[in-house]
Amino acid sequence: MRNTGNSADWTTPAQVLENEGSNEGGPFMTSRRLALVAAPVLTALAAAALAAPSPAFGADAAAVFKKKCAPCHGKEGQPNKIFAKQGVRSFKDAEWQKATKDAQIEESIRMGKKGTMMASFEKQLSDEEVTALVAYIRTLGPGE
Ligand code: HEC
Repeated sequence: MRNTGNSADWTTPAQVLENEGSNEGGPFMTSRRLALVAAPVLTALAAAALAAPSPAFGADAAAVFKKKCAPCHGKEGQPNKIFAKQGVRSFKDAEWQKATKDAQIEESIRMGKKGTMMASFEKQLSDEEVTALVAYIRTLGPGE
């Protein structure tokens, strides 16, 4: 897990709640105080959701693929003629999809392909992005 740095945000609203509760001498909150406490909690929740996208976020993989991979592999995984001539295969190819294991796709993305234009993306992508890209490349295939 990455440290999202949100731990301070999580404790602060609880402390506010405790302090105000003891000052007023009761556990009841006015709705105005509830709103004051709830706002930072929601902000922290939203920040946590943005900081740790799950690998199931297909939209993320699509965006990364479009930006970093599509120039060579094509928007739909089908390279244009120039890149096809360079040996870039189509991810739409059923044979390739069947013959290629997830681990091989992941290794190609992480390590690149020696002697080709396929560079290593290890440093550019997070683990989540690599995993999401493998799944995304699967969706480009013709299916069962
Ligand atoms: C500069 C052009 C270029 C870019 C950008 C690029 N690739 Fe490649 N890619 C290639 C070439 C060339 C190959 C080699 C084709 C081969 O040897 O089969 C390749 C091969 C691959 C393979 C292996 C295919 C196989 O045969 O197993 C995968 C998987 C792959 N790329 C995924 C990606 C992903 C994901 C991205 C974006 C993060 C990306 N590529 C970006 C050019 C590129």
